[in-house]
Amino acid sequence: MFTLLLMVFLVGSVSAQTIGEDYEDDCDAQENTETSLQSEGNSEECQNISMALDTTAYPKIGLGDERCYYRFFSCSTNFYRAQKWCRHYHGNLSSIHNINTNNFIEHFVSRVNRHVRFIWIGVRRNGWTCPLRNVDGSRLDFTNWAWGNPKNFLHRCTALNIRNGKWYSFHCCARLPYICTIRY
Ligand SMILES: *[C@@H]1O[C@H](CO)[C@@H](O)[C@H](O)[C@H]1NC(C)=O
Ligand SMILES: *[C@@H]1O[C@H](CO)[C@@H](O)[C@H](O)[C@H]1NC(C)=O
Repeated sequence: MFTLLLMVFLVGSVSAQTIGEDYEDDCDAQENTETSLQSEGNSEECQNISMALDTTAYPKIGLGDERCYYRFFSCSTNFYRAQKWCRHYHGNLSSIHNINTNNFIEHFVSRVNRHVRFIWIGVRRNGWTCPLRNVDGSRLDFTNWAWGNPKNFLHRCTALNIRNGKWYSFHCCARLPYICTIRY
């Protein structure tokens, strides 16, 4: 049994390396991510709350004419697993294309959870020297960096500070709550 687990783990890390990117394996190599994805979802303290963005009040959300809603998850997890959860709900970690959407997310999250400070949004550098990108493939046409950000090297993922709406670079293995954009 132990040998089998070890084999699975070794195969897993080799394939992650061949692709040349880092994955959640780097964050917690011993855990089987599929299993822990299940158990995290069943955790009762996890709050996840959806809210549609009123497209009449916020005409341009950056997804063309498609209607979407935002879903906030209060359980802290690393960037990769957060994005996996968003995909599970047929969405992505949120991209933000203007200050209105930035404000909307800031106010929505602070209203539903007054303790949260940083949340993952879908902006990431694939490698140290790569440009920042939105994980949903849309153009990174708006940013709201805090002073001294974005950082490079080890801080390749992005979190929004709910207290001031500014963006900060984080290590992708940091564990934070997160927000997904999901299409209807
Ligand atoms: C989100 O909440 C629903 C119930 O509203 C629950 O069934 C689901 O497991 C939760 N998902 C996560 C990732 O916490
Ligand atoms: C999520 O991102 C993928 C690309 O990574 C894209 O094809 C898909 O349309 C996105 N979904 C949403 C709801 O934005």
